[in-house]
Amino acid sequence: MSTEKTLILVKPDGVRRQLVGEVISRIEKKGYVITAMRMMQADRALLERHYAEHQGKPFFEPLVEFMMSGPVVAIVAEGNRVIEGFRSLAGATDPTVAAPGTIRGDLARDQGTKVVQNIVHGSDSPESAAREIEIFFGK
Ligand code: RTP
Ligand code: MG
Repeated sequence: MSTEKTLILVKPDGVRRQLVGEVISRIEKKGYVITAMRMMQADRALLERHYAEHQGKPFFEPLVEFMMSGPVVAIVAEGNRVIEGFRSLAGATDPTVAAPGTIRGDLARDQGTKVVQNIVHGSDSPESAAREIEIFFGK
């Protein structure tokens, strides 16, 4: 059985705040293996595909604008149960209540913006991971 993969993004707030190394460090210290990584400026078409599940929600447009506001770092990490494990490392979506010790709990807070800025994205299922890895890295 091959090990699981997940798609992690360091979002534009994380890149602006020079937290790329911190995020990579937490992934590696946990023991997951980084097997692909690229910094890129995501465009609207790519982000609308990535966030298709959120189309029509009030935060969709602010989310796309935020994600286009600067470069992101896309990472593929591998390991048994890495999808669940990275979501645990990331913490709750809302950084105000994300547990201390998590990436969002330690490094992010409410900035009063239209959309929550929370440093990282992590795939939420094997199907999402496969879909998202193809969006950011191709087949
Ligand atoms: P992600 O997909 O980025 O890993 O985050 P998540 O699963 O924890 O959260 P999700 O529900 O998928 O939402 C995606 C991103 O949209 C922004 N968001 N803002 N009410 C709001 O203002 C709101 N809800 C979601 C966040 O940036 C969230 O990470
Ligand atoms: Mg999500």
